[in-house]
Amino acid sequence: MRSERLAIRRFAATDLTDFLAYQSDPVVRRYLPGEPMSAAQAAGYLAVQADLDDGVRDAWHGYAVHHLGEDRVIGDVGVWLPARPAGTGDVGFQFHPGFHGRGYAFEAMRAFLPYAFATFALRTVTATCSPANTASWGLMERLGMHRIEETGEYVKYGLTPSEPSAR
Ligand SMILES: CC(C)(COP(=O)(O)OP(=O)(O)OC[C@H]1O[C@@H](n2cnc3c(N)ncnc32)[C@H](O)[C@@H]1OP(=O)(O)O)[C@@H](O)C(=O)NCCC(=O)NCCS
Repeated sequence: MRSERLAIRRFAATDLTDFLAYQSDPVVRRYLPGEPMSAAQAAGYLAVQADLDDGVRDAWHGYAVHHLGEDRVIGDVGVWLPARPAGTGDVGFQFHPGFHGRGYAFEAMRAFLPYAFATFALRTVTATCSPANTASWGLMERLGMHRIEETGEYVKYGLTPSEPSAR
C-alpha cells in the first residue's frame, strides 16, 4: 500500500536497525505487554513476519511503515487474526517517538484499514488499549472507530466495512 508520504509493506530482515530503534525503546512499549525488544527478539520477529502467508490465522500480521522521503521504517501497523471468530481482526500500531505528532500513524492506518478489510475478508475490526494511552485511543477516534467497551483496564474500539475509514 502507498499513501502520500508512506509505503506500508511486509517486513524484511533488512528492517532490523530501523525496527529495533523504536521497539527497544521503553517509551514506545510503555502501554504494551512485554519488555522492550532485544536485537535477537527483533530479528526473530522480522524473520517470522517476512515469511507469513496471508492465510495464516491465530497470528499477528505486522507491516512496516516506510517513510518515503526519509527512506526508513518509522513504525508498524498490524492486525491479529484469530481463527475464531472468523472475519474479525484486532489492529495495533507503534511508531518511533521521533515521528509522533505528525499524522503518520493516522495516514498509515487510513491506508491499512481498507487493505485489511479486503485482504482478510473482515466483517469487523477492533482495537484495544489502556485507558491511559490517550495517543492510541485518540488515533482510534480520529479514524472513525467507535468505543464499544471500556473497563478500568482497557478501552476497545470497533469498525465495520461500511464505514468511511474502512473503504
Ligand atoms: C499510538 C501512536 C501510534 C499515535 O501516534 P501519533 O503520532 O500521536 O498519531 P497520529 O499519526 O494520528 O498523529 C496525530 C498528531 O499529529 C498531528 N498532525 C500533524 N500533521 C498531521 C497530518 N498531516 N495529519 C493528521 N495529523 C497530523 C495531529 O494534530 C496530532 O497532534 P496531537 O497529538 O498534538 O493532537 C503513538 O503514540 C505510539 O506509537 N505510541 C506507542 C505505541 C503504542 O502505545 N501503540 C498503541 C498500542 S494499542
